[in-house]
Amino acid sequence: MCGIVGVIGVPNAPEVLLAGLAKLEYRGYDSAGLYVNDQAGHDFLVKRVGRISALEAAVDASVQGTMGIGHTRWATNGRPTLANAHPHVSADERFYLVHNGVITNAAALQAQYLQGVTLASDTDTEVVVQLIAVFAQTGLSAKAAFRRALQLIEGSYAFCLVDRLDPSTLFVAKNQSPLLIGVGTGFNVVASDALAMLDQTDQFIALADHELVTLTATTVRIEALDGTPVVRAPQTVRLTDGDAELGAYPFYMLKELNEQPTVLRRLLARYTADGQVQLPAAVLQALQAADRLYLVAAGTSYHAGLVGKPLFEQLAGVPTEVHLASEFAYHQQLMAAKPLLIFLTQSGETADLRQVLLKAKAEGWPTLTLTNVASSTLAREADAALSLAAGPEIAVASTKAYTAQVALLAILAQGLGVAQAQPAAAAFNVAHQLSLAASGQAQLIDQAPRLHEAAQHLFTGATRAFYIGRGTDWLVSLEAALKLKEISYIQAEGFAAGELKHGTIALIEADTPVIAFITDPATAAHTRSNAAEVAARGAQVLRIASAALAEPGDQLRLPDLDACLMPLLTVIPAQLLAYFASLDRGYDVDRPRNLAKSVTVE
Ligand code: G6P
Repeated sequence: MCGIVGVIGVPNAPEVLLAGLAKLEYRGYDSAGLYVNDQAGHDFLVKRVGRISALEAAVDASVQGTMGIGHTRWATNGRPTLANAHPHVSADERFYLVHNGVITNAAALQAQYLQGVTLASDTDTEVVVQLIAVFAQTGLSAKAAFRRALQLIEGSYAFCLVDRLDPSTLFVAKNQSPLLIGVGTGFNVVASDALAMLDQTDQFIALADHELVTLTATTVRIEALDGTPVVRAPQTVRLTDGDAELGAYPFYMLKELNEQPTVLRRLLARYTADGQVQLPAAVLQALQAADRLYLVAAGTSYHAGLVGKPLFEQLAGVPTEVHLASEFAYHQQLMAAKPLLIFLTQSGETADLRQVLLKAKAEGWPTLTLTNVASSTLAREADAALSLAAGPEIAVASTKAYTAQVALLAILAQGLGVAQAQPAAAAFNVAHQLSLAASGQAQLIDQAPRLHEAAQHLFTGATRAFYIGRGTDWLVSLEAALKLKEISYIQAEGFAAGELKHGTIALIEADTPVIAFITDPATAAHTRSNAAEVAARGAQVLRIASAALAEPGDQLRLPDLDACLMPLLTVIPAQLLAYFASLDRGYDVDRPRNLAKSVTVE
């Protein structure tokens, strides 16, 4: 989703901004732009629809500057056009603004304050930059005009503003959308994600909502909207647990998919010792104090949460609910007396989850975030946070974060179960099971060429596909279908195998691809029957079964593993099938259309 970068005090601002924007590409965007000023009377505004490479090509040697702002836009208000691309400029060409978020009262502000101004775009952002200019025209300083606009604005925002009359200063503010200040020596930077500016500095200051920052090349002044100064020291941000470089892989998705066994081993090293779970005392206490757990997540993380529920219920004996964050935030649940909300989020920035976190704080519910980005908003603002330790995940289609989430939930469930003296936890060895899962995943990844053939056989010319299974196999079916649809654009659905016959089987026709997961001993025979039923109606069926349950004719065998962790294996062929389906259709696997990696609007 929209990405922001800013810099002040460097000889080569266009280069720094373009490099930063390239690092934010993973978030998803459909246009990009930058504004630079050389602080000697020259400035440049360059925007392009499409990829950053198009913007790079348009930024020729004449475009020079020592300060500036850059933006990748993921369209919300208005189509992805040049006019709607950021930075936006005020009609008097004094102010340049980039924005991430959604201003919900833009129309009202426009009607009230911008009667005489003709807008050049369809965006809420332009309303804000025009508003600042109108306020400045009444005699307010740039900062006072910005503050006045911020006081009127409703909605979410991260802003970076340049006043062309004073290019020695960058103005920054945020509410709900993420934004960090990076502190350098003789320069300062701004970014939606530290990753974008790690080449420049590793010293970052996280901003709180409703703070206004005035940046020069050598100073960072943070204040509350009422002008009260805020003192906050920078923190060191390091890329650990792997890197964000593509290396020899053609796509990040394939790289990250391949990293999954390493991620499992890393989690074991971090959260277990001598086969025993080791959790921070505060986390264990929070888990033990709860009489019901609420796993709150979106997308793939939600699917990982679904697998976590039986883990907590079986190993720890604690009732567990799994909720879509976008639903939970606004629809009041009947809550337990002692709830613990566990946020599952790769990015730590998903706006839907942040809204639930705000609600939890208002209600006084304790919170724990499991995230891959230690410096993220949800990590900082929850009562406690644990790292998924998966390393940067760049591909929009999440792979290793799913593995890390399922594994960390299993570790937490066993840690809690042991602490509560639950017999099921005592009988379970999560460390052993996760190391088996790591080697099982590696074996399955080695079978990529077979899965490529299977994907060609199943999906060439296909417009829809079904994944079926029961129990945890059904839960993986949901993730498998999401993976396929998000990167291959084949309409895909995951089904509880028994439900197919209650309606959806009507969609089965000659050659409809159906992938059946069979790893649950209690229901294997039933799922096999369901697979036979769709085959009898012409479907092309791919049967993926665990070794213990495999039968002749099954196309893929999964190594055996405790049933509750089987999704760690089942998900690998699902990921590979989706990857190859996208690849063979010639799509940009890492950057599927319309999607964003870090979804910072609700
Ligand atoms: C976006 C991404 C998905 C991700 C979801 C939740 O939709 O494209 O891959 O699963 O957000 O993101 P989170 O960072 O909270 O796990």
